[in-house]
Amino acid sequence: MSAAIVAGALVSAGVEAREIVIKFSHVVAENTPKGQGALMFKELAEERLAGKVKVEVYPNSQLYGDAKEMEALALGDVQLIAPSLSKFDRYTKQVQLFDLPFLFDDIAAVDRFQNGPEGRKLLRSMEDKGFIGLGYWHNGMKQISANRPLRSPADAKGLKFRIQASDVLLAQFQALDANPQKMAFSEVYQALQVGTVDGQENTWSNIYSQKFHEVQKHITESNHGIIDYMVVTSTDFWNGLPDDVRSELEAIMEEVTSKVNDLANDINEEAKSNIQKAGTSEIIQLTTEERKAWKEAMAPVWKQFEPEIGAELIAAAEAANGGS
Ligand code: SIN
Repeated sequence: MSAAIVAGALVSAGVEAREIVIKFSHVVAENTPKGQGALMFKELAEERLAGKVKVEVYPNSQLYGDAKEMEALALGDVQLIAPSLSKFDRYTKQVQLFDLPFLFDDIAAVDRFQNGPEGRKLLRSMEDKGFIGLGYWHNGMKQISANRPLRSPADAKGLKFRIQASDVLLAQFQALDANPQKMAFSEVYQALQVGTVDGQENTWSNIYSQKFHEVQKHITESNHGIIDYMVVTSTDFWNGLPDDVRSELEAIMEEVTSKVNDLANDINEEAKSNIQKAGTSEIIQLTTEERKAWKEAMAPVWKQFEPEIGAELIAAAEAANGGS
């Protein structure tokens, strides 16, 4: 029986309810959009549900790395996680949409899609597996780094790239004739340092907070994809909460989501500027023509995954572009 159900049973028996403990586990540093969001959620939940809810935040893969997060949630060992949207493909093929290269022009387009009917529906796409999405949190656009300057897609040929556990990202690097390797986030710095892999793709905030720029000589500002998150809980835990607690937590999640999403761009810009100041890696800007060449090289990935994702969903995401 979950902690929430025990607490509920005690209330109806007239016994003082025990505090509900929510463990929120994630893999990134605290000075990132997700790191900040988890702390804001804790602060608001403990303020507005004082005595009823306690939130324990475990950053930096302290409790679970990204290979184990979903299992831990299913087993009730944690109650909230926020994996990158690239890490759900074992549970829902549709969410692979977000990994299609060059799908969204910018994070404003991602936001429009996520807040539209198709995006909202995806939050419920894992309910049959026992998971509910409570909201989307932004990180930002991905950049690509290596110890070799990457100006044209041909420059990536033969290099080993760390990728998240996503078949779309695997196909994306295979389309460049590179060698992608799925690897947990917590292992990336060392893999770059010792040369197990030559490069990686990530947002400015993750690159800076993990110090990847100290072990990568070149970062290409490609903006070729996104890292965003779905905050997920288990259906057992969520549905077992007392109604008043659940509705307050829903309201808090909505408020925190809006704050994280407002902050994410600034956090990434600041991280980029700190990387520039550190002077350890060259930041490569692509011309329009150069960026087009990357887009064309990665384009075959769309057709490959269209049957699993669905042409209509892809079209809905594309329609979110250009609306700002
Ligand atoms: C994250 O932002 O949660 C991690 C992304 C990654 O694995 O690269």
